[in-house]
Amino acid sequence: MKAIILAAGAGTRMKSNLPKVLHTVTGKPMLHYVIEACQNADITDITVVISKNGEPVKTATPHSVKFVEQAEQLGTGHAVLCAKDNIDPNDQVVILCGDTPLITSAFLRKLFAFQETQEAHAVVVATKVPDPAGYGRITTSPNGDFAAIVEHKDLSATQRNITDINTGIFLATGSELLYGLARLENHNYQNEYYLTDVPKILKSTGYNVAVYNAPNYSEFLGVNSQKQLETAATVLRQRIIDKHFENGVQIIDSTAVYIDAAVEIAAGVTIYPGTMLQGNSKIAENATIGPYSQVINSNIGKATTVRNSVLENATVGENCQLGPFAYLRPGTVIGDHCRIGDFVEVKNATIGNNTNAAHLAYIGDAQVGEGVNFGCGAITVNYDGVTKNTTIVEDNAFIGSNVNLIAPVTVHSGAFVAAGSTITSEVPKNALAIARERQVNKKGFAAKYKKLKTPPKSKAKQNKAIKENKESKINP
Ligand code: UD1
Ligand code: CA
Repeated sequence: MKAIILAAGAGTRMKSNLPKVLHTVTGKPMLHYVIEACQNADITDITVVISKNGEPVKTATPHSVKFVEQAEQLGTGHAVLCAKDNIDPNDQVVILCGDTPLITSAFLRKLFAFQETQEAHAVVVATKVPDPAGYGRITTSPNGDFAAIVEHKDLSATQRNITDINTGIFLATGSELLYGLARLENHNYQNEYYLTDVPKILKSTGYNVAVYNAPNYSEFLGVNSQKQLETAATVLRQRIIDKHFENGVQIIDSTAVYIDAAVEIAAGVTIYPGTMLQGNSKIAENATIGPYSQVINSNIGKATTVRNSVLENATVGENCQLGPFAYLRPGTVIGDHCRIGDFVEVKNATIGNNTNAAHLAYIGDAQVGEGVNFGCGAITVNYDGVTKNTTIVEDNAFIGSNVNLIAPVTVHSGAFVAAGSTITSEVPKNALAIARERQVNKKGFAAKYKKLKTPPKSKAKQNKAIKENKESKINP
């Protein structure tokens, strides 16, 4: 069994510069779903037909497939012809469209079995849809046999009511497929060489063309517009959610949770509403994510809690408390038993076990050891206007509130940095660093100052106040 996937169409109805098949559904390009369905049905020989502008499709597709180019988009039949060098007369060839991301390997296996039991030279896959607009329709001869597929634009007024549609999936033996393709004409509304005319040609030549009536139409949704892309995403989201339910993940309100196809979630995880788990994120057992959190390509360790936070390309260890309102940017690696609390931003930094930054901190371009405490408002000053510099904070150091650590700088293990300090040079091991103006108390000054600032009641009092002021020689 070989597969040919058609992906050269312009996709004009998407009104987007991106090739249609690269539009993503639950974080994955549509084409990849179709390729992976084939691979999971044990098809290893897959040819993808792309247009001459299809370079981005090649680049975005790491799968082991062959690409052939259709220089001009003269129709789906012409597209298959472009792959004819890969079709051997003895092959079984299944043709799929790159814009049908809901296709499953389970369906493909059933289709192959059907062809075998029917001993069919070709199989058309039909289904019934509530709204057939836009699809090719299956017409039958008076005895109920398959007659032809009529494209939507070529339908007569009465044919428009037919709800049996062509899913776009077609299976044929190589020799018959090549026979049909060689006889295609483009005398139709769109002046295109329709693949969908091949079964009609084979049938009228006397070949056995069978129709496989698929019960579940939602597997065959063809995405031609942004609206259909969203419809496909709704179906795929539900499939993903059902898989996680099956695996023992607790999702509080699945209508308010978005999980990409490749995300891995262990049993015992709880996901609260407003959460988006994206890319290749991995969530370990008993973690709690949400409400209102976005996790992009990040790993979250066992029993860690993430509330109202955003993580991108970050790794967080076990038993950590994140948020509310933490922001972990790319390159963040956090150990176990850490607390990264409200309004704490971490970027390109490693943070050791048992380290806390409970509120209002910025840790960027830093190596922070174990058991460190970052006080409220403590920040690394990592950017000097030209380059980014590294801050090193060793194990068990204590960084007081509102401290500026001006990088490059190192605070050695066990050191204390007093609140409000601006640290520009190394702090030795176990030392106390204070780098701030010494406090001065002016006795009784507050009361005098207040009196001075109080508006006088009359001209006479005003003059008296001016006089007193001169006498007191206080210049606040
Ligand atoms: C096609 C079928 C229609 C079916 C529907 C199911 C034809 C003529 N029509 O219609 O019967 O009901 O799919 O979704 O086959 N493509 C190329 N080269 C081309 C033209 C198209 O590679 O020259 C590719 C497209 O990228 C797409 C696929 O073929 O992946 C189908 O083309 P599209 O224009 O979407 O056909 P539909 O009008 O949806
Ligand atoms: Ca289509």
